[in-house]
Amino acid sequence: MTRGTLLVDHIGELVTNDGRDGDPLGIRRDAALLISDGEVAWTGPARHAPAADRRIDAGGAAVLPGFVDSHAHLVFAGDRAAEFAARMAGEPYTGGGIRTTVGATRAASDDALRATVGRLRAEMLRQGTTTVEIKSGYGLNVADEARSLRIAAEFTGDTTFLGAHVVPAEYADRPDDYVGLVCGPMLAAAAPYARWIDVFCERGAFDADHARAILACGQAAGLGVRLHANQLGPGPGVRLGVEMGAASVDHCTHLSDADVDALAGSETVATLLPGAEFSTRSPYPDARRLLDAGVTVALATDCNPGSSYTSSMPFCVALAVREMRMTPAEAVWAATAGGAAALRRTDVGRLTPGARADLIVLDAPSHLHLAYRPGVPLIRQVLHNGVPR
Ligand code: NIG
Ligand code: FE
Repeated sequence: MTRGTLLVDHIGELVTNDGRDGDPLGIRRDAALLISDGEVAWTGPARHAPAADRRIDAGGAAVLPGFVDSHAHLVFAGDRAAEFAARMAGEPYTGGGIRTTVGATRAASDDALRATVGRLRAEMLRQGTTTVEIKSGYGLNVADEARSLRIAAEFTGDTTFLGAHVVPAEYADRPDDYVGLVCGPMLAAAAPYARWIDVFCERGAFDADHARAILACGQAAGLGVRLHANQLGPGPGVRLGVEMGAASVDHCTHLSDADVDALAGSETVATLLPGAEFSTRSPYPDARRLLDAGVTVALATDCNPGSSYTSSMPFCVALAVREMRMTPAEAVWAATAGGAAALRRTDVGRLTPGARADLIVLDAPSHLHLAYRPGVPLIRQVLHNGVPR
């Protein structure tokens, strides 16, 4: 890491997410930010900026916290472009293609999987993502789930064991045995590399009883709980997540009033993944309904080769504003501080003293431009741990 202090100066609009003065984005105008030892050491008016060893002139641009992508499936082989084309020609998304990716992933070498994760991680960084969660879930046997997480852990501390993605073909007629495998030898092999446990709780994947059993085993092994819930239809997943103290329930596309009430009275974040609705041509979740009920909302990419092969948080912000009734400010907060909340992280998603110096200099004067100028590469510079990337 580079030693010494670094001043980011002449910031037209600094998004701090400090939540002060009733403005969740905590915007400061004509600001500067001092970095020391990879952390934010000071923010304030540019005219009061302290001296520093080095300086970046933001030229009046907007600076915001690096995006926190709290939901991504990056350890896989192959792609499913033909499945996407079929969907765009009218086929529905069922999750059935997951088994295709499982076959390709099992057949891939460690180096091939590592190269794919590295390529996608680099794509994300170029688009402003400085924190990413990475799931397993395309191995679905003891050895391939463990190696997926071992490789994921080379790239992030937020690794998630998703052995319960679907029941693999070889267990199709004995799902109870597969749940036993997940809770037993697979969890034992995966847990040393995992921070979180996740289950795809959905018709055709795992029902509430199986999901509860698997999440409880993960909790007993010291893992935090998150889950895929209510993506393809209504179901028990969201309320199960709240009941189990999940950090986040993800997708939340089909919600009942009881689901929204449960979330509103809880610490569980609702993570919305508009790339999945885009790529499966499905109705988008209604973020407005959740926000108006007081639920904490995060945005993430769900980057995976099936339902959402985008690594772009700016794309998700634009979709959330256009299609999910979020304001630009709400969407930017959800993609930064919201993602941090979904990962129970307090060191990222904000630019206040003590936070990691993970930040984006936009090629624009305001965060508004992320949704206002969709598809435009607006990420001028990214700093990760205070280091320009
Ligand atoms: O979050 N829904 C389950 N898992 C992924 C999709 C995985 C796939 O289609 O390969 C998701 O959308
Ligand atoms: Fe997912």
